[in-house]
Formats: sequence, C-alpha cells, structure tokens
Amino acid sequence: MKSLREFRLLRNDMEDESVTNSHNKRFMSEEQKTSAVIREGELQKTFGTKKPRILSGMRPTGRLHIGHFAGALEPWVKLQNVAENYHLIADYHVLTTKLDTSDILQLSIDMATDWIAFGIDPEKSPIFRQSKVKQHTELFLIFSMLITKARLERNPAVKDQVRDLGIGEGMTYGHLGYPVLQAADILLYKADLVPVGEDQVPHVEITREFARDFNHHYGNVFPVPRAYLSETPRLTGTDGKRMSKSLGNTILLSDTPDDTWKKMKTAVTDPQKVRRNDPGRPEICLVYGYHQKWNPLEVQEIHDGCSSGALGCVDCKKRVTDKINESFAPQREKRTELAKNPDSVLKIIEQGEIRANDEAEKTMKDVRSAMKFG
Ligand code: TRP
Repeated sequence: MKSLREFRLLRNDMEDESVTNSHNKRFMSEEQKTSAVIREGELQKTFGTKKPRILSGMRPTGRLHIGHFAGALEPWVKLQNVAENYHLIADYHVLTTKLDTSDILQLSIDMATDWIAFGIDPEKSPIFRQSKVKQHTELFLIFSMLITKARLERNPAVKDQVRDLGIGEGMTYGHLGYPVLQAADILLYKADLVPVGEDQVPHVEITREFARDFNHHYGNVFPVPRAYLSETPRLTGTDGKRMSKSLGNTILLSDTPDDTWKKMKTAVTDPQKVRRNDPGRPEICLVYGYHQKWNPLEVQEIHDGCSSGALGCVDCKKRVTDKINESFAPQREKRTELAKNPDSVLKIIEQGEIRANDEAEKTMKDVRSAMKFG
C-alpha cells in the first residue's frame, strides 16, 4: 500500500514551486502542457472544428447589471454557436458569504430570466442549479480530500476576500473550500473551457491541478480545462469604483430606459471638467468606457469632443444612454414578458437540470469506477 506521504496529492503540499513544476511536467501529457488561459481570439486555432465543452457559472445574487453583460453574458452568447455550453446557477456557492437562503429561489429565477432574455438559448445550452444536481456535492467531497488546507490558503482570491470582507479567522470551512466546489462544477461536465474574468483565473488553476492529480492517482477521467478570457475590459460603476451590486453603482439589464438615464446622470466624470466647455480626459472617464462598449462608431468623435471641450458631460451621457437603451430594447422587452411568468422560467431550469444530471452522472460513473467505488 502506498503511504499517505506518497499517495497524497503532492503538488498541493509543496511550498517549493520548482519541485511543484517539475512534478507537474512529469505527469502532464503533451496536450496538457498548455497555458491555463485562452483568449477570445485564439479559440478557432485551438479547437478548429471540434466544439469545445464550456461550463460557465455565476452565483445568483440578484438581477444582473451591464457589467455582467459585457464581461460574461455577451461572451457566453457568442460562444453558444461554436461550443457546447452548460450554464450553472451556483446557488450553493452563495452560502459562502450569505447564510440567509430565504430568497435563493427567487434570485436564481431572476438571474436565469436575465440570461435567457439577453441571449442564452436554453434549448442549446442547459441552465441548471448546483443544488439540484447532487453529483456536485459528491465530487466536491472527493476533491476535498485531494487538496491541502495550505494550498487553499495560498489562493489569492481567498486572500482578497478575507481582506475585502474583513473576515480573517471567521472564514468557514466551506468558504475556504470555495474553489473545491468550483472545480467540481467544472470537471463534472468535463469542460474544456471556463469563461471567467481575470480574478477567477486562480480558481481555474486549482481546477487544473485537481484534474491532473485525480488523473494521476486514479486514471484518466478529466480533461484539463482552461480559463477563457473575453476581450471586453471590466466596466466601471457609476461612482468610479468596480461595478458591483453591493456598492449600488450599477445599471441593471432590467432597468427601464428612464432608470438608465437617471443612473447615468449621477455618474462621476473627469473632476477637471467642471464647466461644460472645459476640456476633459476621456481616458480616465468611466462614461467614455461605456461609449467604447456601446457606441463604437462615434467613439472617436466623443473622444475629440470631450478633449476639446466642445462636448459637455450631460450630452455625452445622454448619447451613451440612448445607445445602451437602443441596443437593449428587444432584450428588455423579452425580459418583461418572461418576468410575468416566473414559473415558465423555473420549468426551463428544471428541463436543464434533467440534462445536467445525465451528464454529471456519466462523469461520476467514471469517477466511481476509477476509484473502485464501483
Ligand atoms: N466563482 C464564480 C463567481 O463568483 C461562480 C462560479 C461557481 C463559477 N462555479 C463556477 C464560475 C464554475 C465558473 C465555473 O462568479
């Protein structure tokens, strides 16, 4: 019998990166010696005509904002035709920072409503809740034995959260294990790609380690997935900080054109542009970032107008608001329709759960058999 020292998942225990790397190289197949990240433009050259499997997920924390659209939803929709997509509602993950689950179903339905209205086709791409596909918890339990506490504590995303939320010693076992559950989410569907923001790349790296370590110890079950980064830079919230629901600086996908304008009006702009005709610095202005995204054809003109002082902030904001409202009009209409019948959205999710369960069970059969659990 192998000793625990030999058997345990080496790389997670090793502080010395050079040893870790050589360990990894030894156990990686040619195909696995890829970088952890793939960018939007590289997709075709990497996969050719083969459709990659994609697992994307979000925690259901409420209605989505335009930053979610630009950074996640829009890239997912683009992938829909060239990939096989699975869309996870990560409801168990919500528990890592919020124990009150009284509105969890409503939040999940709200999020799925945004997804569908803004372009996810649930016929093509199943939408499902983590809590309804029990194999997530099964694989999570197995994976939790394959990683050390030290490895989890080294995860920069955890360090950031400890700092941002001020939790320190108060972090729960489950919260520390956030990336373990996320790895289970991804590998359960044998995903090739995981569309994420830059901040989530460390989680995908841990997922890759799980895939390799599991394969090494029990036989080849999992592909080693990669993070997929879209080309859209992060949008700034209307107060100049990172766009986030908790900061109250968002424009929601479900906002009316009027709400959109009300929020845009309050957006901070270049503090040096005090009067209408003062020259501004578009590069530092968040509203200019919105123009780059929603008004690409006029972006040069906006840039010049702002810099010379010919364009005032109110006009500038009005113009981008119109563009946003115009571009979202059909989706918002669809959203209003769907929201009238939340049960129909729940039915769509339940259909997705049947498909997700099938896939998840296939993988778990492989896992159990590789591990001799039969
Ligand atoms: N961690 C992701 C977030 O905070 C949500 C998530 C959970 C996820 N499981 C996932 C993302 C699997 C991609 C793949 O947004």
